[in-house]
Amino acid sequence: MSDNINTTDLKKQVEDLLASFRSSLSSVNNTDALQELRVKTVGKKGALTSLLKSLGATTPSERPAAGEMLNKLRDEIEEELTKKKAALIDAETQAAEATDQVDVTMPARARASGAFHPVAQTMHEIVAIMQGLGYSVALGPEKEEEHYNFDCLNIPSWHPARDMQDTFYFPDGTLLRTHTSPVQIRSMLKYGAPLRVVCPGKVYRRDNDTTHSPMFNQLEGLLLEQDVSFSVLKGSLRELMNGFFGRELKNRFRASYFPFTEPSMELDIECVECGGKNPDCRICKGTGWLEVCGMGMVHPFVVRAGGIDPDKYNGFAFGMGLDRMAMLKYGISDLRYLFNGNVSYFLSGRNA
Ligand code: PHE
Repeated sequence: MSDNINTTDLKKQVEDLLASFRSSLSSVNNTDALQELRVKTVGKKGALTSLLKSLGATTPSERPAAGEMLNKLRDEIEEELTKKKAALIDAETQAAEATDQVDVTMPARARASGAFHPVAQTMHEIVAIMQGLGYSVALGPEKEEEHYNFDCLNIPSWHPARDMQDTFYFPDGTLLRTHTSPVQIRSMLKYGAPLRVVCPGKVYRRDNDTTHSPMFNQLEGLLLEQDVSFSVLKGSLRELMNGFFGRELKNRFRASYFPFTEPSMELDIECVECGGKNPDCRICKGTGWLEVCGMGMVHPFVVRAGGIDPDKYNGFAFGMGLDRMAMLKYGISDLRYLFNGNVSYFLSGRNA
């Protein structure tokens, strides 16, 4: 009889456990809660495990039936747990997919974009205008020989431009070029005539104050063809200045002197700040004019030094400061802003 009671007892316990497991299972709605229920039921200290342990207390005759009953219970529970787990993972994946969807209409995050340095931009603009007039770009070394920087340009050794005050020399007698004019010579020797080149680049002089930097940027122009007149030079520079500043500017050509051009001139344009209307203008100092460019007809001495016959070819050269051009176009008030690497001045919108 006791056998019967025991088995009935166990059967009741199995039914209770299954009922309570199923009711818990039906209220489980996520995989974490499911794991908790699994531990509570089939874990080391779980309800099913303690039932299995009670098998040891049954008599040998009732053990097989009891064992079978408990094994069946365990299989059932495991199966239901597995099914539920699959269903929950499915549901959770679907929910995640629904909320994680990419909204392709969302605006992209704004990125700060880089920009050219004002001098580089100025150089690109001027080069583009000159390319439109048929010029190519030629470059030369910044560490230059006296021969190209001075001798070939008709600057004899006694000339003030040779003074140690102005030029950075290396111990071996080479120097940092003081202007881009040596590239005139190098271009003539390399390409011959006819020739149209512009030569942008860094130049160096022993000068350092509010309006002078020991390194600055120039752009050289050189044209050598047959029967070139000064009016071609005037027209080309007018084209360059009006193109660069984007409007028609008054200009005037003043007589000047450079050893490597004859005759030599300087170009003034109307003040881009005040147009000559402000006697207190900080840019033109009330004169209404801005000096922007040195130029002239290339001296026959220089043409010859470039390996070209001055009786066959003549032409003109000009040279301008790119830093100054950038300052005038973009309204930059101090040369040092261009070189000190602090971009906040440009980002502040003062030059927008
Ligand atoms: N090389 C001159 C300077 O540095 C500029 C220049 C170039 C003048 C070409 C005339 C012709 O000032």
